[in-house]
Amino acid sequence: MRKSLTISLCAVLLTVATSTVWAKKKTLYQSLGGTPAITAVVDQFVTNCATDNRIKAQFAATASDPARLAAFKKNLVDQICEAAGGPCKYTGKDMKTAHAGMGITTADFNALVEDLVAALDKFKVKKKDKDALLGVLGPMKSDIVEKP
Ligand code: HEM
Repeated sequence: MRKSLTISLCAVLLTVATSTVWAKKKTLYQSLGGTPAITAVVDQFVTNCATDNRIKAQFAATASDPARLAAFKKNLVDQICEAAGGPCKYTGKDMKTAHAGMGITTADFNALVEDLVAALDKFKVKKKDKDALLGVLGPMKSDIVEKP
């Protein structure tokens, strides 16, 4: 009787202790502020790209077609949300297929990353979250850049 009570108590304590630890460990998605915050960053990011003299020509067709622009933004939100451990599911093309034939250079890629950082800074995203997000997107470079 006494032994089973001790075991039950230990089980309760262990459950409380581990759930406390887990509760403290936020996902990047949560830390960024969830889907509304990611959507705001993506809106700004796309505006930055579409007005950036270095790369705006590549976004001209997308920016001038509202339906295409909305689909593009949704894909970006889903992609970032999913990569950050959120509940979304990215259903767009893989990065190699999506950018095939665009002739994207390393300079184009770096310009786009700068535009993303500017959007993250505008919304005061913490450095550790910025670094974590760039750490997830950075490795996609080899699938996107065709002219290093
Ligand atoms: C880490 C870097 C990048 C990420 C995460 C990214 C992400 C994406 C995603 C999710 C799509 C939509 C794919 C689909 O339609 O299924 C896309 C399309 C596109 N990307 Fe990127 N991209 C990156 C870099 C670039 C760069 C450097 C450029 C050019 C400077 C670029 C230009 C485009 C264009 C023009 C489209 C087509 C948009 C449309 O559907 O009208 N991307 N990209």
